[in-house]
Amino acid sequence: MDFARYLIRPERWEEIPPDWAVLFGRAGPLAVEIGFGNGEFLVEAAHAHPELNWVGFETGLTCIVKAGRKLARAGVEHVRLALADGRFALRELFSDGAVDCVVVHFPCPWPKQSHAERRVMDGDFARTLAAVLGPGGRFELTTDVLRYAEDAAAHLERAGFQIAGPTAVLAAGPGTRYEAKWRREGRPIWSLRAQRGRKGCTLRIAEGTMPHVRIGRAVTPGALAQLVGLKETWPGGAFVIKGIYLSSDGSALLRAFATDEGFEQQYLVAVMRGTEETLVKLDGATVPFRTPAVKRSVAAVAAALEDGRCGP
Ligand SMILES: C[S@@+](CC[C@H](N)C(=O)[O-])C[C@H]1O[C@@H](n2cnc3c(N)ncnc32)[C@H](O)[C@@H]1O
Repeated sequence: MDFARYLIRPERWEEIPPDWAVLFGRAGPLAVEIGFGNGEFLVEAAHAHPELNWVGFETGLTCIVKAGRKLARAGVEHVRLALADGRFALRELFSDGAVDCVVVHFPCPWPKQSHAERRVMDGDFARTLAAVLGPGGRFELTTDVLRYAEDAAAHLERAGFQIAGPTAVLAAGPGTRYEAKWRREGRPIWSLRAQRGRKGCTLRIAEGTMPHVRIGRAVTPGALAQLVGLKETWPGGAFVIKGIYLSSDGSALLRAFATDEGFEQQYLVAVMRGTEETLVKLDGATVPFRTPAVKRSVAAVAAALEDGRCGP
């Protein structure tokens, strides 16, 4: 469990953005790596820049474990790791101008147009960078896909960045596993550097608090079963209740799916039955970020049970 001391769980925080100085135990300029893989760069960067507080975001759980172990073996202190989509986390967890530097090394290129929404780098991400980076803040991208770097440059230019590159990286780059892999295969490696120009703005949607909803009566298993399929859609968001697990005491866990501007989350909503009232809340086992779609799903479940739409 040595990796665990680097782990942060932002989806559980009540205050978003957090006080990073408190989380690191010291004030310091913030640097972010998105998609850090096995953590080779973070270890080197933390040694090379001990003055920076590094935050890494990854969507792969094994990467968190491997990177955390590497950091522990290297005795590195000022790094925090989160299992989170870096596009969402960068926007939601840092206030405007809070970050000095963001790096992405060898992002999955997702070359097919039908997978384009999975790419880290797009127009929204460039706008997020322009908002969270401070004056003169830097973004650095390394990739083996020239087209990806060129597209990134175009997005960043539109967001007011001054661009250098893409340029070929002939000598050692960020020293990551993927750099070694692509060099073995003889692929060219490209670097793009960008410096923030005008300040950008971005719309943040996550909030720390999640009110529980109390219903002034007990609900029946029949009413709970009718919640499956409950859904709402609106411009930019949607949720659906996909399944239900009923317990013998009349409580239930609802399997829910929500999307906000393309950010997808799966989680459980707990319906806890008492003798005279019922509590609807997020279940602690799968804590999602409290986005508008997640909040609407909890409110809609409570409303459906309250107004008797789900009967008997
Ligand atoms: C090709 S690997 C590169 C890993 C590492 N940077 C390297 O150079 O060895 C891309 C990594 O990005 C992670 N990733 C993909 N999309 C992500 C996202 N939206 N947020 C955070 N990490 C992401 C993947 O899990 C994967 O570990």
